[in-house]
Amino acid sequence: MKELTAIIIGAGARGQIYAHQMKAHGGFKVVGVADPIELQRNDIKNLYNLSEEACFDSWEDILAQPKMADIAVIATVDKYHYLPAMAAIEKGYDLLLEKPVAPTAKECADIANAAKEKGCKILVCHVLRYTPFFMKIKELISNGAIGKVLSVHHCECVGHLHYAHSFVRGNFGNTADSSCMLLAKSCHDIDILQWLVGSECEKVSSFGTLSHFTKENAPQGAPEYCIEGCPHEKECHYSALKAYYNPDEKSWFKSKEAGAAALKVECNEEDVKKALSTTQFGKCIYKCNNDVVDHQVVNIEFTNGAVASFNMSAFNHHGRFIRVMGTEGEIYGDIDADLVKYFSFKTCEHEIIHPANMAVDSAMRGGHAGGDKGIIQTLYKYLVEGYDGELLSEIGISVYNHLITFAAEESRLSGRIVEMKEFTEKYLK
Ligand SMILES: NC(=O)c1ccc[n+]([C@@H]2O[C@H](COP(=O)([O-])OP(=O)(O)OC[C@H]3O[C@@H](n4cnc5c(N)ncnc54)[C@H](O)[C@@H]3O)[C@@H](O)[C@H]2O)c1
Repeated sequence: MKELTAIIIGAGARGQIYAHQMKAHGGFKVVGVADPIELQRNDIKNLYNLSEEACFDSWEDILAQPKMADIAVIATVDKYHYLPAMAAIEKGYDLLLEKPVAPTAKECADIANAAKEKGCKILVCHVLRYTPFFMKIKELISNGAIGKVLSVHHCECVGHLHYAHSFVRGNFGNTADSSCMLLAKSCHDIDILQWLVGSECEKVSSFGTLSHFTKENAPQGAPEYCIEGCPHEKECHYSALKAYYNPDEKSWFKSKEAGAAALKVECNEEDVKKALSTTQFGKCIYKCNNDVVDHQVVNIEFTNGAVASFNMSAFNHHGRFIRVMGTEGEIYGDIDADLVKYFSFKTCEHEIIHPANMAVDSAMRGGHAGGDKGIIQTLYKYLVEGYDGELLSEIGISVYNHLITFAAEESRLSGRIVEMKEFTEKYLK
């Protein structure tokens, strides 16, 4: 098996996942890591037996070295994708680039344009494409099972606890610090819609607001930090103590260890309590510095006449549902239930499919419904075997789909319908 070498830039949750998936896949060797937090770096350092010299404090330091590997994995937070990506392209690395490509349309386009100029291969981490669930739906559509796709309805249920952790208290709650909600969370879904319909986009509109997680909704007498004896702590769904300090199976983190890891501290009472009294993760959920929307809809008209509607909301348990309607049948899918239901107009019968159980490739299961494994498998095929099939979330198409996301956000803010041709012409060479 040919071996590809890689460096990991940003050794947080995603950087570590890719390092582990690469190890499990084989054919990859991580030879360097960069992250300012030693605790984060150590996971990858230990996994690959790296020397101190192969560990760096920042992307600037690792990319100041002569080119060390075939691939740079960029897994820093959203606003720190652009500079390391541009520097890595300049150095001649191929990239596994976390989504979103970058927080602004111009930066996304710069990266796509630079990659084109330098002949650099970039796979963007649209992991949903690589799940057995969406691969099955795409395969049915590509095989003509439902004729021409004319309408798609897709719903992303972020989950109230996931939303509270990541999009109120966490890295992705504030637009200026990261990016708008649609880009941070749902650029995957806009990518999936364009990929399934298989057409360019004509027009986009969107509505949505931040309605619930606001200062006005803080219960009377709630202190700044939940740990300061909040009188509503017991009944509050979003108590930081329930989430991180005393987590049980109902918390998103389920164990004290996972709660402490989310706070990026060692799992001991003193460190966890300190984080809960001083960081945003301990704050009253209604008193954070978040401004991203908690519910949003997007409507898309495609050039081939198909239309799609997308609904993102924080107010649910979790999951994604999709209904794809074509001239010869329909497909309904529920990713959490591992259920794809195909109805044919010809037979008037349903076929029930459980994609992850189909044993197409049992190795596809794992994080993100199998998507994390799937993208590493595809990265290997892309770089070693020259794969260029319909699965590829390669930079050109990914940036086009990001531009649909930016156009939707422009529509939400301006109240206007955005014409895509005009919008993309401003950015893409
Ligand atoms: N593909 C997906 O489905 C998916 C899922 C979740 C997150 N993401 C994306 O992955 C990215 C990382 O998210 P995460 O949850 O792993 O965040 P994280 O905070 O866990 O990890 C980011 C890491 O970058 C490090 N870092 C900060 N400054 C740095 C620097 N100058 N040089 C090198 N490293 C630096 C941080 O210390 C941290 O360890 C984000 O862009 C996020 O949107 C993608």
